[in-house]
Amino acid sequence: TWTTGSIVAEQVAAIRERIGNRRAICGLSGGVDSAVAAALVNKAIGSRLTCVYVDHGLMRKGETEQVEKDFVAATGAQLRVVDASERFLAALAGVTDPEEKRKIIGREFIRVFEQAQAEIVAEAGELGEEVRFLVQGTLYPDVVESGGGTGTANIKSHHNVGGLPEDLQFELVEPLRKLFKDEVRMVGQELGLPEEIVQRQPFPGPGLGIRIVGEVTRERLDLLREADAIARAELTAAGLDRDIWQCPVVLLAQVRSVGVQGDGRTYGHPVVLRPVSSEDAMTADWSRLPYDVLARISTRITNEVPDVNRVVLDITSKPPGTIEWE
Ligand code: XMP
Repeated sequence: TWTTGSIVAEQVAAIRERIGNRRAICGLSGGVDSAVAAALVNKAIGSRLTCVYVDHGLMRKGETEQVEKDFVAATGAQLRVVDASERFLAALAGVTDPEEKRKIIGREFIRVFEQAQAEIVAEAGELGEEVRFLVQGTLYPDVVESGGGTGTANIKSHHNVGGLPEDLQFELVEPLRKLFKDEVRMVGQELGLPEEIVQRQPFPGPGLGIRIVGEVTRERLDLLREADAIARAELTAAGLDRDIWQCPVVLLAQVRSVGVQGDGRTYGHPVVLRPVSSEDAMTADWSRLPYDVLARISTRITNEVPDVNRVVLDITSKPPGTIEWE
């Protein structure tokens, strides 16, 4: 029979067996999945794991600081933060196709991990065992929706499955590959991770890069980051965090509409609110948020975020819409 305790024991034993005395690195994203995967491997091999948090510049407000603080405090794992925003933005310049964005982001992640690997080996000197393993928090739904690693996305290429480059030098360790999100949360709890990590709403690895419809630029990321922070703050203040699965905020950078703000006419971009309820992200329904909360979010975003003059609500279930817009 299935218990979270037995999953942890089983996975820890399997990871020890596979990695042996060698080293591994784990890409941390700040989300539940990678945190739980890292905590499992940390339990199995301790200091032979180095967690690497790649700040790709597509993160939300406060995210990097939160990982540095919460995750390290909870696990004591070794963490390295790499600022790679220039590199990701350069690679994404001029790109508008969603699958292309996903593949580029997946590839750049791997390139950064390879660089980190080389540094870790160099620092460890004579004592350094080869770092050959890359730990990822891939879940069952990621595998299914990316086409089961067949190279052809059924729906979209999750950055850590269908988005991996073909010349990957790492062996992947994916201890959560058979689990759904609610099971991952239970495993995280079993491992002693704090509520702030275990109950975090999902956020995709490619980050805000797949929430800008159109080209990703630093200016657009800054706008979206502000709009997203406002929506999150208001949802939290209204006590709705546990009622919704997540609420992507999407910038329609290719659309402009006429508005009237302050002294006169504006010609700005719309922002979409995409609040959803779900059990496992395979299907979802749009959340019936209270109108007063929606009104507050809309007023604040149009008042506080430059160049955004309209807020629209996405009332599409999944299917037919996916949760993210790209
Ligand atoms: P979709 O948009 O496919 O999203 O309905 C389902 C769930 O997966 C998240 N998502 C991702 N998570 N890497 C991730 O780690 C990705 O590339 C990715 N794409 C989507 C999305 O936020 C939702 O929770």
